[in-house]
Amino acid sequence: MCGITSYCGDRKASEVIEVSLKRLDYRGYDSVGVAVSSESGLDVRKGIGGIDEIDEELGLGNMEGGVGIGHTRWATHGKVSEENAHPHISCDGRFAIVHNGIIENWDNLKEELDGCSFRSGTDSEVIAHYIERKARESGVEDAVREFMAEAEGSFAVVLLDSEKDMLFAFKKGSPLALGIGEEEVFVGSDAYAFCTYTDKAIFLCDHEYAVLKNGEYVLRDAEGRTLERKIKRINYDYTQDVDSRSDHYMYKEIMEIPEAIERLDGSLKLEQKHRLEEFQNKLKNKDRVVLTGSGTSYHAALLGIYFLQEVGVEAHATVASEFKNYGRIDENTVLVPISQSGETKDVLEAIDYCRKMGAEIASITNVPHSTVERKSDANIRIRAGQEICVAATKTFTNQLYLLMKLAEGLGGTKLGKNISDTIRRLLDSNEEKIKDLAVEIEGKKDIYIIGKGETYPVAMEIALKLKEISYIHAEGMMGGELKHGTLALVEEGTPVISLIPNGSSEIVSNVREVEARKGNTIKISPSCGRFNIPETGTKGFVFLSTVLGFLLTYWIASNKGLPIDKPRNLAKCVTTK
Ligand code: G6P
Repeated sequence: MCGITSYCGDRKASEVIEVSLKRLDYRGYDSVGVAVSSESGLDVRKGIGGIDEIDEELGLGNMEGGVGIGHTRWATHGKVSEENAHPHISCDGRFAIVHNGIIENWDNLKEELDGCSFRSGTDSEVIAHYIERKARESGVEDAVREFMAEAEGSFAVVLLDSEKDMLFAFKKGSPLALGIGEEEVFVGSDAYAFCTYTDKAIFLCDHEYAVLKNGEYVLRDAEGRTLERKIKRINYDYTQDVDSRSDHYMYKEIMEIPEAIERLDGSLKLEQKHRLEEFQNKLKNKDRVVLTGSGTSYHAALLGIYFLQEVGVEAHATVASEFKNYGRIDENTVLVPISQSGETKDVLEAIDYCRKMGAEIASITNVPHSTVERKSDANIRIRAGQEICVAATKTFTNQLYLLMKLAEGLGGTKLGKNISDTIRRLLDSNEEKIKDLAVEIEGKKDIYIIGKGETYPVAMEIALKLKEISYIHAEGMMGGELKHGTLALVEEGTPVISLIPNGSSEIVSNVREVEARKGNTIKISPSCGRFNIPETGTKGFVFLSTVLGFLLTYWIASNKGLPIDKPRNLAKCVTTK
């Protein structure tokens, strides 16, 4: 994880970096640091917390210089502390580096660097000392190439050479993009880092590096040969303002669900029509489809099984971090990786593994030009727009919408008309009831959510949100499994939320089992319970119950005064294993 950003041009580098760090802090917010090359050498400022908390303290506005690097950290190697915050500096004070990834052989590299004084407990610091040592022997550019050849693990690095006012951006495994302006160049972990300034970008491939000086750039390969690369135009669906009714992106993003669905639907009829057909052909023409993802995206993958099996496609889902334990991948398989960011390390590893086994890759992503998209044979973007809250909301519902549309094109039952308007009305007519329920259950230690068939992954997803946003232990499960163990934990007043689409009689009997133990049964259903839910069929109900679940977790977290958009210990984009 971690976000890196850099600037080389005529503007004040620290001001550009400050704006970029605000765009990138969804990648981690444990600590922040900036280094700028000034007339008197390196000016380095670091602090613990996210950029919004320590912006003033860092005094970024009074850093002079047009070349600089910045970093926002999600701690993996080394605790959260000022020493471990990036940038890390070489002993002679000439070089500063920011790094995203993990240098797996950092201790071997460190052994070669006797005499260096290490100030942090990170793997990243080794990069600064390594470059200093090797640059003395063979020059900085050779040192960068040697580092890329010798380092194991994954890295996206920007190196600032304060003696020459130059930047070197290089990568393997972790994402890195250049933003191209008029006589100025930006670097970012993704294109959102520089979207305020330019819509032109180049995405670096592994083992490539860029040299930046005087607002110009050159791109080179591992042998130092100059590369020509087409510049991509980025169509940003980015956002910064929170909704006037709330201080949180999560709320804003839940309220955006209907328009995000409409945007995706429109694009599937127009500019993504061919991508949709190509994707459907791949699903049809192979023996087996395996869906994968992490966190919320894995729950979308689980739902994908139900939609695809209905149309006779043999579909499986396996969580990305356990992918290699899933045996049945061959040339008759299509892997469907689902990832909002398109950068989740476990998902990328699943893709590489499937590629080796001869499978085809047809991916579903949100962030444009992501690594997952670039590694795929076919891809559809869910067009949800930038999602800032760490917890995924509108991207989950758009993933579901796309999966349903894929299945619909293969003969699946249709989602009722105008689901987006139905969601709008649902939000309007149920928010006060949801707020009351939030007050009723916010003090509970455990909450259970039960579903059946398509609503089982929804139950899992609501439970995940209760954990990550509301800090309540929650379990989402199949209603039929309750009596095989978990029912022992149900006491008088234990909240058990049940997701009951019309006609689901089996789950109603599971609800009765809870009632018989005096549990607090909360029914989300068009046919019973306290909410106004229109009858939309099971597919529609998947959306409606998800949206109500999201809103409930939001209001519980809000009542508890929790940091909703940036929950403790988590980050939106997980680029480590
Ligand atoms: C992190 C985020 C989750 C997200 C998961 C997968 O854990 O906090 O919100 O669901 O990564 O992310 P992806 O970008 O691959 O969908």
